[in-house]
Amino acid sequence: MEEQKLIDTARAYRERAYDKYSHFKVGAAVLTKSGRIYGGCNIENSSYPVTNCAERTAIFKAVSEGEREFEAIAIIADTDRPCSPCGACRQVMAEFHIPTVIMANLKGDVKTVSLGELLPYAFSEDDL
Ligand code: THU
Repeated sequence: MEEQKLIDTARAYRERAYDKYSHFKVGAAVLTKSGRIYGGCNIENSSYPVTNCAERTAIFKAVSEGEREFEAIAIIADTDRPCSPCGACRQVMAEFHIPTVIMANLKGDVKTVSLGELLPYAFSEDDL
């Protein structure tokens, strides 16, 4: 099942997290309409705000390979509830119209929602 495959990929990429400062590992995996999966992890920086979240790493990897159309993204961390993406990542998901967000944790809890639920009234190109 694609959902489980995405979660498994996100979990594997979480191991690559460069979490030198927060010691909080996050993994993500994005599924393209063409069926490819790109994984990513959080990449921190001594200048803390420069840190790149796992979701944006995965999305930017895909976009830089020429992908523009997406089906879903999964995110996973060692959290009590399924890991929820930050606001900046939600905005990037909105930019690329990623319709489905699969939130997961290491215990196996999963919650799948639409991006519209996570970021209603998103700012978009239509506002420019
Ligand atoms: N982090 C993510 O990778 N994704 C999110 O949506 C939330 C936060 C990372 C950023 C930082 O490396 C660490 O988690 C703690 O905030």
